[in-house]
Amino acid sequence: MPDYEPILTAGVARTDIDVRTLEGYRAVGGWATFARAIRETQPGQIIQTVIDSGLRGRGGAGFPAGQKWKFLPADHPGPFYLVVNGDESEPGTFKDRLLMERNPHLVLEGIAIAAYATRARYAYVYLRGEFHRPYAVMAKAVAECYAAGLFGQHISGGDYSLDVQLHRGAGAYVCGEETGLLESLEGKRGWPRIKPPFPAVKGAFGKPTVINNIETLSCVRGIVERGAEWFKSIGPAHSTGPKLIGLSGHVNTPGVWEMPMGISLRELIEKYGGGMRGGKAFKSCIPGGASVGFLTPDQIDMTMDFEGPRKCGLLGLGTACAAVMDETVEIPRILYNIARFFSHESCGQCTHCREGTGWMEKTLLRLLAGGGDRGDLDLVRKLADSMGMMPGMSICGLADGAAWPIKTAIDKFRGEFEALCAPRRKAIPAPAGH
Ligand SMILES: Cc1cc2nc3c(=O)[nH]c(=O)nc-3n(C[C@H](O)[C@H](O)[C@H](O)COP(=O)(O)O)c2cc1C
Ligand code: SF4
Repeated sequence: MPDYEPILTAGVARTDIDVRTLEGYRAVGGWATFARAIRETQPGQIIQTVIDSGLRGRGGAGFPAGQKWKFLPADHPGPFYLVVNGDESEPGTFKDRLLMERNPHLVLEGIAIAAYATRARYAYVYLRGEFHRPYAVMAKAVAECYAAGLFGQHISGGDYSLDVQLHRGAGAYVCGEETGLLESLEGKRGWPRIKPPFPAVKGAFGKPTVINNIETLSCVRGIVERGAEWFKSIGPAHSTGPKLIGLSGHVNTPGVWEMPMGISLRELIEKYGGGMRGGKAFKSCIPGGASVGFLTPDQIDMTMDFEGPRKCGLLGLGTACAAVMDETVEIPRILYNIARFFSHESCGQCTHCREGTGWMEKTLLRLLAGGGDRGDLDLVRKLADSMGMMPGMSICGLADGAAWPIKTAIDKFRGEFEALCAPRRKAIPAPAGH
């Protein structure tokens, strides 16, 4: 992508300035867009521009950001809150961490503009508990903003006031789910809430709240500065704007890069990942975190955008951080690890998720240990179909994320699982009289 101009990572590779500091970020034009927005633009105009840009959420579900902002009730007395999801708990995902660590003022300027557009008086940034360095960098940047009068009461002498607070989680995957996050933010156990009411109507502390991912909000400065048409000119029509795409697993050079969406997984591996490690063959990939499911070897040309993964039978683009597996990998072993993760992270509120994830983990373990049969395999597959929000059996999407790897792994690599099965046991005849 030689002519691609980085937006989210603009300036981070420079050695003459440090964009992590307020001074360095201002040297690349930083904070001017927020200053202009609160001086010259009405909140509704910004929301319309973000709608027109086609910006879709980068946290996993791909929901249109501007539409979400528009759901806030117009006649509510407030206060309104903006909650920023920096939990980044999806396995194999490390893109928001890069933004917080390397370009914290871009994140904060996006937050400030979004807060103004959504009339939020307070913005809470919820960070994953283990993110020690991102927290330190972000805390320094927030302090600089307060000292420079960018946050606080009557910013630049105007009517708008904004307070920004960082909040550290305690390391539960489910606290990345937006309503689990809200519960945790309020000091309670991170149990997802039944929706409706949606957070836009009743969110943090019972007030209207917008929740967006770190990367989503990092796109906002560019949209407001350069316009919706510019944003739409980057990437395919359904997947507009810059994107951080990650690569890990059996490639030569794992990492995270900024680029337009639409690149094929094959090109990503060859051009950015330096090819498959040790020249081995590509076998599979979970291209957007563990919860989206598995690809087959012939699906390597899948495009990394909001459409490509669904065409390959996956849950969605997820976090666009791909974990690549070579020919040496045994899919049942990987699937067991994933099942163990979801079973451990299920919050336990919904029966299908609580019992189903545990049952899947134990049955897969039995298969791996050579004690299972085809009936077990069919049972696990059936369990996966019965859980999640899609069949209306759960409060949050964790159950869907637990089911999708099971469905795709068993459907696409069934032979590997069958090879582990003992011949089906003969049914024991029922005792006489029954
Ligand atoms: C189990 C689970 C975990 C999630 N973890 C994260 C996360 O770590 N970070 C994130 O931004 N979104 C996560 N999400 C998605 C959020 O619920 C929500 O959709 C997102 O933060 C909204 O922001 P966006 O519209 O900007 O993507 C998770 C969802 C589920 C179901
Ligand atoms: S689906 Fe699972 S994680 Fe989500 S609320 Fe229900 S039990 Fe908890």
